[in-house]
Amino acid sequence: MRILTFFALALGVLLGTVLRPAEAPGQAKRFPPLGPLPSVPVPRDNPMSDAKVALGKLLFFDPRLSGDVSTSCAACHDPKLGWGTDQPISRGYPGAEHWRNSQTVLNSPYYAKLFWAGEVTSLESQAAAAATGNVAGNGDPIMMEERLRQVPEYVTRFKEVFGVDQPTIAMAWMAVAAFGRTVVSKAENVPFDRYAKGDQSALSPEAKRGLALFQGKAGCIQCHNGPLASDDSYHNLGVPPNPIFESSPLYQITLRYQHVIRGVPEQVYRAADRDLGLYYTTKRDEDRGKFRTPSLRELKYTAPYMHNGIFGSLEEVIEFYNRGGGEDLNKSPLVKPLGLTDQEQKDLKAFLESLSSDGPPHVMDPPEPPPYAAMK
Ligand code: HEC
Ligand code: HEC
Repeated sequence: MRILTFFALALGVLLGTVLRPAEAPGQAKRFPPLGPLPSVPVPRDNPMSDAKVALGKLLFFDPRLSGDVSTSCAACHDPKLGWGTDQPISRGYPGAEHWRNSQTVLNSPYYAKLFWAGEVTSLESQAAAAATGNVAGNGDPIMMEERLRQVPEYVTRFKEVFGVDQPTIAMAWMAVAAFGRTVVSKAENVPFDRYAKGDQSALSPEAKRGLALFQGKAGCIQCHNGPLASDDSYHNLGVPPNPIFESSPLYQITLRYQHVIRGVPEQVYRAADRDLGLYYTTKRDEDRGKFRTPSLRELKYTAPYMHNGIFGSLEEVIEFYNRGGGEDLNKSPLVKPLGLTDQEQKDLKAFLESLSSDGPPHVMDPPEPPPYAAMK
């Protein structure tokens, strides 16, 4: 009996080893599954209300929350352009060029850390960083606060939402963040989410094959996982530098400026001709060129892609992965040549597109900024 059990066990182990798929098909199980987004996380100290969201919307579109009243959040996050811009590198504050691709605001409340290299940790501090950052809003917080206090409608609305007699700039960022928490994908509009909820017909045969590739042969799930299709972690893919660095003095100025304000050592400052990503936060050489894995939701509306906007289409992105990414000393070992056929690349693209809403999400006209009136 014992011997029989032993043989049965041994056979089981043997079969298990032989039958275990080489690596790919099992991958899906080791990672948080893709699926519809849960409800939006809301911090305890900034609860949502309709009035707060309505105020945040006005502020998001109000250019007075920038230095020279020219650059609202919406200037770089246009609802009609997928809540970003359609340029590889974002526009900057007048007189400056930005240095990174404008990220979409869509679904940003789901990330633990914001920006391409995760430099800030909440939508509240992100809004402040954007409006005051020298190549973005370049606004002085005290000046922006005084502006809000000379707008009767803001005085009334801040009183209603926060119970204060005078608007404060910190509360403005709370309202903007609350508005940001409403700019998220709705599962009923997203084919993949409808499929995940049981509607087999929501995905085309191509997209279904693409899903299998994504979780299998192409290995995308290793980093793009969970409902957001992001592991919220940092990797170096060897994304090629944007040639704009060679031709644009304004871009060079911004890049060098970023190196200085982020405390990069003198030698690195001189030598580096590109965005160092996570390195700015950690100052560890192995973190050079690592960026936060972006969500793959709403890609249909958010081209160009990558931190420097180097790829204009999903075909280019997929080709890039298929050839094993780019070249970099720090390149992730998870990125290697995939050997996808032309048809497989098309299937993968069809799947990626199924993670986007049927039409551009939350398209809205900019509200008219409420007028000034002299207040005591
Ligand atoms: C001059 C252009 C510009 C302006 C103005 C601007 N942004 Fe941005 N925004 C960007 C760029 C570029 C990034 C990526 C920045 C980075 O990685 O350093 C970004 C990143 C973000 C992110 C992070 C998304 C993510 O996935 O992590 C959010 C949220 C955001 N902006 C909201 C705002 C809000 C709110 C305002 C107004 C208070 C604003 N932005 C003003 C260009 C701009
Ligand atoms: C090693 C982790 C990793 C793997 C594996 C991976 N990605 Fe990515 N992906 C990233 C990171 C990190 C970025 C941002 C890189 C940058 O900007 O430098 C990114 C960017 C992207 C973008 C651009 C999104 C945007 O908004 O700009 C797309 C599309 C994409 N990946 C699709 C895929 C597909 C399809 C696969 C599988 C073939 C895949 N990724 C495999 C980590 C990964």
